[in-house]
Amino acid sequence: MKRIGVIGAGLMGAGIAQVAAQSGFDVTLMDVETRFLDKGLSTIEKNLKRTVEKGKLSQPDADAIRGRIHGVLSLAEAANGVDVIIEAVIEKMALKKDVYSELDQHAPAHAIFASNTSALSVTEMAAVTTRPEKFIGMHFFNPVPVMKLVEVISGIATSNETVAAIKELSNKMGKTAIEVQEAPGFVVNRILVPMITEAIFVLQEGLASASEIDEGMKLGANHPMGPLALADLVGLDTLLNVQQHLYEEFGDPKYRPPGLLKKMVRAGRLGRKSGRGFYDYGS
Ligand code: 3HC
Repeated sequence: MKRIGVIGAGLMGAGIAQVAAQSGFDVTLMDVETRFLDKGLSTIEKNLKRTVEKGKLSQPDADAIRGRIHGVLSLAEAANGVDVIIEAVIEKMALKKDVYSELDQHAPAHAIFASNTSALSVTEMAAVTTRPEKFIGMHFFNPVPVMKLVEVISGIATSNETVAAIKELSNKMGKTAIEVQEAPGFVVNRILVPMITEAIFVLQEGLASASEIDEGMKLGANHPMGPLALADLVGLDTLLNVQQHLYEEFGDPKYRPPGLLKKMVRAGRLGRKSGRGFYDYGS
């Protein structure tokens, strides 16, 4: 594997592109509009600059990493000559299917398609391609440059060779992979998201303030950050999408999204990325 295509230059896509380039891969990073692509590339540049300032990376190495990332604006260009495509577009199945059916026409026959979906069915996405055996989930965690885990998710048709190749790729990217069979939310979000949901219900019911809830979980359960700060980091729109998906798939009221979260997303309060969520981050 030499060239990786990353589709979507948002929070996750930019992080994945950075880590792939840091691991020596050539990366084609794609988004639909220049402003989205530029935002992703500037996040990567800021992260690299910070690492250089800390003395953990030399300037020539940072320049080489940035030089390995090539930004493009079409799926056809993104698929050109790649060995793996990692897709990180928003969590809408219809959109993901459109992306995959187009990528399937342009990508080399040997290329593996890996979705960074947080919760959706890999099998359903694979079904719109001619390569379901080469289709897999590759779920990174936010912030991607820091978090060590990748969930490697097999759909109904994913081959053992594809699982082995993506586990090896995860290792080359400095991550530890766990193998998971497809089910809504996989392993980590199935456990983590209901915990965050409960924290939002506690806030909604007025039992404690956001900072007290977070302090409680940091000091009382040794979490590195509280659940509401974590929700802001993940993005409240992404969180709501995952909650809705778990609720629809399992039909169990324990997964229902809190009204407060829906209201915040409708107001455009999406967490850190929009400057405001449960906390205010300034502009
Ligand atoms: N991008 C790149 N690097 C970052 C970063 C970011 N957004 N945020 C922090 N870092 C780096 C810092 O530069 C620092 O690096 P260094 O050790 O080389 O100096 C290191 O991470 C630690 O950062 P800080 O000292 O600033 O702060 P903390 O020690 O508080 O760590 C944290 C910050 C890593 C975010 C930590 O609070 C944490 O681990 N939080 C939990 C994160 C988590 O649970 N993520 C999973 C979310 S769920 C998910 O992503 C799934 C999805 O499908 C919804």
